[in-house]
Amino acid sequence: MRAPSDRSIDSEFDSLRAQIWHQLQQAVSERGHEWRTPVLADVDVDGLPQARTVVLRQADPIASTLQIYTDSRSPKVVELVGRPDAVLVFWSRRLSWQLRARVTVQVQTNGQLVEAAWEQVSRTASVADYLAPAAPGSVVVPTAQGGHASHYLAVLLARVEAFDWLELAREGHRRVRFDESGACALVP
Ligand SMILES: Cc1cc2nc3c(=O)[nH]c(=O)nc-3n(C[C@H](O)[C@H](O)[C@H](O)COP(=O)(O)O)c2cc1C
Repeated sequence: MRAPSDRSIDSEFDSLRAQIWHQLQQAVSERGHEWRTPVLADVDVDGLPQARTVVLRQADPIASTLQIYTDSRSPKVVELVGRPDAVLVFWSRRLSWQLRARVTVQVQTNGQLVEAAWEQVSRTASVADYLAPAAPGSVVVPTAQGGHASHYLAVLLARVEAFDWLELAREGHRRVRFDESGACALVP
């Protein structure tokens, strides 16, 4: 039998989890939201840490997934296919919230998800990023010609395995970990 206080703590955690997903969804739709541009950290092909800023494109609380668009030729794609474990780090000064999302990334280069993403991207200025004839990170060759008819858009479908949420507050910092075993308050 669980004490009533356990249940109220559980509902506080449920509410916090819902607020986190709400902010992630807001970040997708609001250009100025600070969580719109998290840092994606992974492990490179030499086993060394690597990190870069990306744009959060989709947040689905039911499926527990986040989406990022990238160029299928970028080094991070090779890295994530080889080792799909990654972390997305978000910081919002307005919320005073840091969120570290432990994710497992599936790289999709064709199919429904990519078609929907392309449909969206092709209506924006970002379209040029995914049509460039040379791969990201390759040395710039001034004579490179355009004219590639297809695109190189890939969707990084990141399944959230765990959240580590930290709130900085004058009256006391708070930290909560959410993972497959539930939610747990941590010493900040
Ligand atoms: C504000 C900002 C947003 C970015 N968004 C993306 C993005 O959504 N997808 C992406 O592939 N690269 C994005 N980049 C570029 C990456 O940070 C990185 O330089 C590039 O993807 C190459 O990374 P890689 O060599 O690790 O593959 C962004 C950079 C900045 C500064």
